Amino acid sequence: MTDSSYTLPPGLKHSLPFYANKPWVKLGEPILLFEYLHRTYGNIAYYSFLGTPIVFVNEPEYIHEILINQASSFVKERTVRRMKVLLGEGLITSDDPIHMRQRKIAAPAFHRHRIAAYADQIVTIAASMREHWQPGETIDVAAAMMNLSLEIVARTLFDTEVTADIRSINDEVNTIMGLYNLIIALPKLESYLHWPLPGVSKFRRSRDRLNTIVDRIIRQRREEMANNLTLRDRGDLLSMLIASRYESEVPSTSDPAPRPPSEGMSDEQIRDEVLTIFLAGYETVANALAWTWYCLSQNPEAQSKLHAELDAVLATDPGAPSSTQSHRAEHGDIATHRLPTLADYPQLRYTEQVFAEAMRLYPPAWAMGRRSTKPVVLGPYRIPAGAHFFFSQYIMHRSAEHFPDPLRFDPTRHTPEAKAARAKFAYFPFGGGGRQCIGESFAWMEGVLTIATIASRWRLIYLGTTPPVPQAKITLRPRDPLRMRLKPR
Ligand code: HEM
Repeated sequence: MTDSSYTLPPGLKHSLPFYANKPWVKLGEPILLFEYLHRTYGNIAYYSFLGTPIVFVNEPEYIHEILINQASSFVKERTVRRMKVLLGEGLITSDDPIHMRQRKIAAPAFHRHRIAAYADQIVTIAASMREHWQPGETIDVAAAMMNLSLEIVARTLFDTEVTADIRSINDEVNTIMGLYNLIIALPKLESYLHWPLPGVSKFRRSRDRLNTIVDRIIRQRREEMANNLTLRDRGDLLSMLIASRYESEVPSTSDPAPRPPSEGMSDEQIRDEVLTIFLAGYETVANALAWTWYCLSQNPEAQSKLHAELDAVLATDPGAPSSTQSHRAEHGDIATHRLPTLADYPQLRYTEQVFAEAMRLYPPAWAMGRRSTKPVVLGPYRIPAGAHFFFSQYIMHRSAEHFPDPLRFDPTRHTPEAKAARAKFAYFPFGGGGRQCIGESFAWMEGVLTIATIASRWRLIYLGTTPPVPQAKITLRPRDPLRMRLKPR
């Protein structure tokens, strides 16, 4: 393709800084810009920033092209690559061939049958949290869900306790989230990471402290494995990473030279993976759950339907659920429900739809980006190599075209029939294609069982007078503490 054969989508004539005084251009608030582009130019829009061509896409079919049909023409874009200063060559940030090798090693820990084995641990941890809550108590539900999901990831995937470290891990991650705009805005941050610049030093200290915790967990496990005089993995992801060996080249018959012993992962690579999966696996689910509690509190009808499902599946006296439940609620009694198990999971369909709907309105991964390495054709447009492409779950999931009356919380948008009727990338909280979230099944199981465990015992009442403000950091988090009062069911 020659230059003249490019056909760019409609969009901004000048480079983005030219529009700096517009209300839709605000540092750290890219959703405003995406909303503007979508509103003004439709489902595909062009802009540029300091010479880099950028395309914002809100068309499911084009996203399908980028993530699946033409995936080999794309790599992750700059903001993701910038996260290498934190996540190194972990699964999210690495490119092939490293990515393919690492994904193969980690995949068994996320297989359906393994995830099933985590169900009891998830429920035990959620139940322990709900037992500590007191009627009438006010909690910051966002913080509570962070603690919960951090503990779940630590125990299930890494077979380790982080109870003592939870506060410091949360603090460091909060600091890093606060510095997120700085991290992605600074070009070549890697090269002056050691300079004593205020934000940079703060980031470096937090990152180093996180690394220290993760290094300790890895060292302890290596020692345990060495003391057992075996590298046998005990089934969790951490042992699997330590015990893994890269496949060495198979020698050909014409070259019978002995193969070098296959290599294990370096400590640094293991640390990158552990930190990646820790962060990817707890922040996202925690935010999804926090938003779920908020959405339920604002939608009594959906909440009642959820309770009815939990009564039907889990109540130990399912004979007269609704009237008994409201009687109990009035008198502050606690309903009797057994804890959910893996066997209940297929029955908790509405619970799953509630979780899905919360992630529609508040997708924890709110946008994704790719950079083209070859010229790309999307519908009538021909876009050069080196262009950046963004698409946003937040914008797509709130498009009236795909979700009529988009701001209404309606879990029945996710019935099997409704899912089958919509375009594949009209709803994509977990991405898609070769880089699709490896933890998706884990996240569904964790979300559904946690909601069932907590909602069968508690109702959470939002205390704010205005809706919480979503903040687009690495994940979509509530900007302020999400204060909710606990009321027994
Ligand atoms: C509600 C919860 C979650 C959401 C919304 C979510 C979302 C996503 C999305 C959108 C991607 C793709 C990013 C891209 O292609 O640019 C991704 C990748 C990833 N996620 Fe998740 N995730 C969640 C939970 C988890 C969990 C529980 C884990 C692990 C325990 C996890 C680990 C990962 C990893 C390692 C990747 C990179 C995969 C690769 O590139 O091969 N995520 N996630």
